[in-house]
Amino acid sequence: MNILILGSGGRESAFAWKLAQSPKCGQLLIAPGNAGTSQYGTNVNIGVNDFAGIKQLVLSNNINMVLVGPEEPLVRGIHDFFLADDAIKHIPVIGPQQEGAQLEGSKDFSKQFMARHNIPAAKSQTFTRETLQEGFEYLATIGLPIVLKADGLAAGKGVLICLSVQEAQQELIEMLTEAKFGAASSKVVVEQFLQGIELSVFVLTDGSNYKVLPSAKDYKRIGEGDTGLNTGGMGSVSPVPFADAEFLKKIEDRIIIPTIEGLKSEKIPYKGFIFIGLMNCGGDPYMIEYNCRMGDPETESVLPRIESDLVDLLSGVAEGNLNEKQLVISDKIAATVVMVAGGYPGEYLKNKVITGMENVRGSQVFHAGTSMDGDNVITTGGRVLAVTSLQDNLFDALQQATADASRIYYDGMYFRKDIGFDLL
Ligand SMILES: Nc1ncnc2c1ncn2[C@@H]1O[C@H](COP(=O)(O)OP(=O)(O)O)[C@@H](O)[C@H]1O
Ligand SMILES: [Mg+2]
Repeated sequence: MNILILGSGGRESAFAWKLAQSPKCGQLLIAPGNAGTSQYGTNVNIGVNDFAGIKQLVLSNNINMVLVGPEEPLVRGIHDFFLADDAIKHIPVIGPQQEGAQLEGSKDFSKQFMARHNIPAAKSQTFTRETLQEGFEYLATIGLPIVLKADGLAAGKGVLICLSVQEAQQELIEMLTEAKFGAASSKVVVEQFLQGIELSVFVLTDGSNYKVLPSAKDYKRIGEGDTGLNTGGMGSVSPVPFADAEFLKKIEDRIIIPTIEGLKSEKIPYKGFIFIGLMNCGGDPYMIEYNCRMGDPETESVLPRIESDLVDLLSGVAEGNLNEKQLVISDKIAATVVMVAGGYPGEYLKNKVITGMENVRGSQVFHAGTSMDGDNVITTGGRVLAVTSLQDNLFDALQQATADASRIYYDGMYFRKDIGFDLL
C-alpha cells in the first residue's frame, strides 16, 4: 500500500516512523515533511492546504491512502474534496469530512454536540456581537475564573482564562467586536472553569467501530514547573498513571461511546482519530474539547506504545472493519521531551546546525521543525525535535529521554527537564 502523510511536525514524523515499520507499507510519501521524515519515506514539497497539488501527487504516485496529520486541511474539507472528485474519490482519507471536523473547527458546535448526547462537560453558553449584553449577564452568573473560547481555529491561542468579571467583559468585547482572534472569535463560548488534572485519550474510528488508543498527558508551558507562556507542547507521557482501568471505563462509557453513537445517530461520517481532551475532576471525567486528529507531542509517546501494525489498523478504518483488527498496546511507559529553539514561543532563532543526534542511545528522535541544508540538519521551527524513550517504568523513561535530549546540541537549544516528574 502506498501511503501519503500530510504534515511536517513531530506528529507526522512519528506516523512516518510507525507506518514505515509495516510490511504492508509500500511507497511512503510525506508532504511537506521535514529532515527527519525523509529517513522513512520521500518528502514532497507540497503544502497541506494545496488540495490540487495533493490530488496530482496522489495520482502520479499511485497513492492508496492519505493520512492527514493536522486539523486545518480537515476543517477546510480535504476529505470532501477527495469524495467530490471522480479521479480520487476511491482513495481513502484518514481524517473526518468537514462536518465531523467541526468537532474541532467550532467550539460552539462541539459544545452543542456534547449537550445533545449528555456528555459531561463544563456549563457554557455561546455569544455573538449581537448578544453581547446577554453575554455580560451570563459572565456575572458563572463564577470565577471564567473561560472564554474563540469558536473557530486559533492555533491554540483562542482560549482565555479570566480571573475577574471585569477582565472577562473586556476580553469578550475585544473578541466579539474587535476581532481579537479574527473571524475565529466572531462567536465566543463562555464556559465554567473546571478544576482538576488534564489528560487526553485518543480514539480511532471507522465511523461505527472504534479502538481506544493509549492515554497521554502533555505539558504546554514553556517553563519548568508549568510556568510561563503557552507553547504547542513541551513534552508528553503515556500512559497517564492516574488514568486507571476504572477511570478509563468511565471515559469509555460516558464519553467515547456517546460520541461514536452521537456521530452515527446524526449521520455524521467520521473516519479517523478523535482526540478527547479531558479534565479529571475528583475521579470523574469531563470533556474539555475534541480535536479531529492526533495531538502533538502526544502522538510521539502514544505511537511507540502501539505494537500492532498501524497500516492494518488504518486499513480497517478505511474499509469499515476496524472491529476485525488487532490493537495491542505495550505495558511500557513512553516519555517525550520536546527540544525547542531559543526564544520560542516568542520570536525564535532559526537555521542553527543540529549536532549530536548520533549520540542518542535509548530514545527515538522525531524531527519537528528541521530542514536539510547541504549535509547539515538545521532548525527551522520553534519546536525542533521530540525525543521519546520507551522504558519499563516512568522514571527510567523520563531519565532516558532527558539524558538523550542533552546529547543533542544547537545554538539556543532548550528543553524542560521536569516533564512528567509531577506524575512520579
Ligand atoms: N472549562 C475549562 N476549565 C479549566 N480549564 C480549561 C477549560 N477549558 C479550557 N481550559 C484550559 O485551556 C486549554 C485550552 O483549551 P482548549 O479547549 O483545549 O482549546 P484549544 O486547545 O483549542 O486552545 C486547555 O488545555 C485547558 O488547560
Ligand atoms: Mg486543547
